[in-house]
Amino acid sequence: VTNDTTYCTIRAQQGTVQYFPDTPATNTWGYNGNILGPTIPFQVGVHYKITLVNDLPEPTTWHWHGLNISGPIADGGPFAAVLPGEQSTIEFTLNQPAATAWLHPHPCPQTARQVWQGLAAEVIIQDTVEAQIDLPRAYGTNDIPLVLQDRSFHNGQLDYDADYDVDGTTGNYALVNGTLNATYTVTQPVMRFRILNGANRREFRLNFSDGLPFYQIASDGGLLPQTVGFTRLMLTCAERAEILVDFRGYQPGDQVQLRTDDSTLITFNIGRMPASDYVIPDKLAPVEHLDDSSNHVDHRTVMSGMDAEVRLDDKLFDMTRIDYRLPINTTQCWEIENTNDMTGGMVHPYHMHGCEFQVVSRNGNAPFANEHGWKDTVAVNPGEVVKIKFRVRQSGLYMYHCHILEHEDTGMMAQYESF
Ligand code: C2O
Ligand code: CU
Ligand code: CU
Repeated sequence: VTNDTTYCTIRAQQGTVQYFPDTPATNTWGYNGNILGPTIPFQVGVHYKITLVNDLPEPTTWHWHGLNISGPIADGGPFAAVLPGEQSTIEFTLNQPAATAWLHPHPCPQTARQVWQGLAAEVIIQDTVEAQIDLPRAYGTNDIPLVLQDRSFHNGQLDYDADYDVDGTTGNYALVNGTLNATYTVTQPVMRFRILNGANRREFRLNFSDGLPFYQIASDGGLLPQTVGFTRLMLTCAERAEILVDFRGYQPGDQVQLRTDDSTLITFNIGRMPASDYVIPDKLAPVEHLDDSSNHVDHRTVMSGMDAEVRLDDKLFDMTRIDYRLPINTTQCWEIENTNDMTGGMVHPYHMHGCEFQVVSRNGNAPFANEHGWKDTVAVNPGEVVKIKFRVRQSGLYMYHCHILEHEDTGMMAQYESF
């Protein structure tokens, strides 16, 4: 019926999942399913028209985390609430590099509870630049999503109120793609994993049980200029990392675990793999350089406090207040400060809607090796000032906030308007 518009429907709905054989199924929420949702693929340059249906008993929104689309309605922040039983339609065309992004609810102040209940889905943006680089990209075969989360259960039930922590809710069990005790049978010599930290508060310190090195090829906003090798990688809330894992050193029957610190996230069972002489590329995609000739800082944002005392620029979020105005297509340089004490303070993952940014420095020092690409969420450690630069390309009203979801719900969030 259509030539250049693609239509789809995303329904936020109630479901159930049974996590333990001896306890009843728990109520869950999901997108077009019981929990989480199918990965949503978008092509750069295609026009999408998306119908958002709310079959939940309360208002929700569909926020496209990492997609630079006109705000505030299509972006899906707190202004875009759809009431129970109602629907809305949004449209957009993407103009940004190939990347792994995600979809999650963003109603204020119910984001954390709705994500805990199961609302989140990975989004893959594809473009012609990424398509020309020799990388695994057969979705479901050698290119798979890994959504990392943590939950607790009470007689098999999710119970957000019982587990609620104002400083960020954590659980005792790891869930990968909504699954407890996840396993995966490896039948491809080199796999690409699109890892999303979809947890409310927890940081993941990824490592393999035998110290196997892995190779990060992309951060939040797309391919890095160069592959970066790790044996241990920290991902804070909402950050994404695409990694390549070379399983050619194993024999069928071997097992290796992907862990966070020393708890297992997922067990890989090595199956039969075809022979392969694939070489992991060193060079990936050039990252556009944003000019920053004037060393001038346009704005300094301060994340302070813990517990109910968290504040952004000493304030709590107010939907009726615009905290900053900036011109589109102009490079902005911001400093993001975490005033928490270096000993014992919290990491605040700083996130911006409407743009991807580049990390310029951390406390004046060079950013980490995997921070040379585009990002939309960055860990700001206690006592740290992270300098970023970015350019917003479309006008709108957008949030910036701490991505510990309970901090965001408390009000550690502000908004800018681009014009
Ligand atoms: Cu991932 Cu304002 O959100
Ligand atoms: Cu976002
Ligand atoms: Cu925070």
